[in-house]
Amino acid sequence: ANRPKRETWSSERKSTGMNRNVGLLTRRYSPSHRTGIKIAVLPPKPGRILPEGHHLREKIMHFDHERIPERVVHARGAAAHGVFQGYGTATGVTKAAFLAKDAETPVFVRFSTVLGSRGSADTVRDTRGFATKFYTDEGVFDLVGNNIPVFFIQDAIKFPDVIHAGKPHPDREIPQAQSAHDTFWDFVSLHTEATHHTLWNMSDRGIPRSYRTMEGFGVHTFRLVNAEGDGTLVKFHWKPKLGVHSLVWEEAQIAAGVDPDFHRRDLADAIEAGAFPQWELGIQTFPDTPEQTFAGIDLLDPTKLVPEELAPVQPIGLLTLNANPSNYFAETEQVAFHVGHLVPGIDVTDDPLLQGRLFSYLDTQLTRLGGPNFGQLPINRTHAPVNDMLRDGMHQTAVHRGVAPYRPNSLDGGCPFLAGADAGAFIEVPAHVAESRKVREALASFDDHFRQPRLFWLSMTPPEREHIIAAYTFELGKCYEQAIKERALAILANIDPQLSDRVAAGLSLPAPAAPSRLLDPEPSLALSQLGGTWPSD
Ligand code: HEM
Repeated sequence: ANRPKRETWSSERKSTGMNRNVGLLTRRYSPSHRTGIKIAVLPPKPGRILPEGHHLREKIMHFDHERIPERVVHARGAAAHGVFQGYGTATGVTKAAFLAKDAETPVFVRFSTVLGSRGSADTVRDTRGFATKFYTDEGVFDLVGNNIPVFFIQDAIKFPDVIHAGKPHPDREIPQAQSAHDTFWDFVSLHTEATHHTLWNMSDRGIPRSYRTMEGFGVHTFRLVNAEGDGTLVKFHWKPKLGVHSLVWEEAQIAAGVDPDFHRRDLADAIEAGAFPQWELGIQTFPDTPEQTFAGIDLLDPTKLVPEELAPVQPIGLLTLNANPSNYFAETEQVAFHVGHLVPGIDVTDDPLLQGRLFSYLDTQLTRLGGPNFGQLPINRTHAPVNDMLRDGMHQTAVHRGVAPYRPNSLDGGCPFLAGADAGAFIEVPAHVAESRKVREALASFDDHFRQPRLFWLSMTPPEREHIIAAYTFELGKCYEQAIKERALAILANIDPQLSDRVAAGLSLPAPAAPSRLLDPEPSLALSQLGGTWPSD
């Protein structure tokens, strides 16, 4: 009975006059008059929480739910704000207003690794994401690309499989490294369309020096449409003003240990110091023919590139990153890219991988960002006027006006039957949609998995080849299953015997049998243009 009366949160608030929003931490500390140092004045007291403990509950409840799921891929990333300036060189092929001469568009760019978790190291051997959100006057355009110009697979249904193979083993959840384990090599040696992307990963491109020194690629072929409605097929490229630079493997390993935030820090420090990184956006252009091929290369096959010697990259604008995010969660974590975010003048093609991606992004963000209204988050919000008919739902923040959320209607404001009501809206080009409904057969070249990897290998300088041999030897050396190593070596023999024999020697395994025939590069391409040499030279 003599114990002092237990204070409740509410009596405490009354006695100190504390503002409810100040929160519980402040309640426990107050400045010492003499030292100015904050000291605890109200240590916690044992006892049960009374019903009046609702402020405790509110704070703990919010804290308990601070985490959201990390991205299922590309979980680790770093981002920056910037501006994109159009050169006006693309106006003949696209009506996209942000590409007009001197048009300035705010952008947000997120770079990422693909397979590591949110806390993984930056300098691991992996593909890097290079995703750009353009807040154009005509709505958001997302260019969701990578730093490697081709992809592992041609068919979206294999995407969960290749990711499951690359992520840590389900039993022990190791390793974090993409390619140093059995399931990765099991997959890429059984699905040989992955050979090209894997070879780029094993090259110096798999360990960039900095995000600032990476190229970016849209990978798929897109369709640009001009004011006359004419289409042009294009591939997008980002070219860093600082040039392309990579680490060597030993540097990458040391950096991963000494500073796992190496790339994140490099990007933020450079921007803070005023050394704003820049990239030129460029396009390779191809006639929009029904075959959708160029120089014998299938433009709908994302495992193939078009050599720049055959179709030069034409610069169409300049990207400058000039501001760091002020809140990682609100910006870098909550940003939601989607390949279906298009503006008038930019359309997708029937690349089967791109078509699969059109489903995936919104679907995953529905879970990751908790309901259908993540487009209203500040970082995702378009800077253009919105006239969608989307209403209500979890986390709705807009207060919609009007009574007729459907179109056309004759109640809310002007009459949408009037000509021009769709001005500025993204509208697919009917001719091409009609054409694409006739699903095209995959060309035979979809099954040609070694010609372009061989082209890449032949274009490498001797030191670059040494790096590739060392990378395959190191990564395959982590496999437990001998049969997988042997199968992977047989694939390498289809790229080049020098590569397969050297890696086999490094693994203390017999050299694989030579394939009956090596596929030479496209006949139209003069190898000398690539600086490569034939093995017999
Ligand atoms: C992120 C799916 C292929 C580039 C993601 C995410 C998913 C996904 C689910 C997480 C998105 C989020 O949580 O917000 C797929 C599927 C693919 C595919 C199903 C194939 C069928 C590709 C390709 C590229 C690519 C070919 C490159 C051209 C990216 C990038 C991100 C990403 C850069 C990270 C975006 C960010 O920074 O938030 N992808 N992806 N993906 N994907 Fe893909």
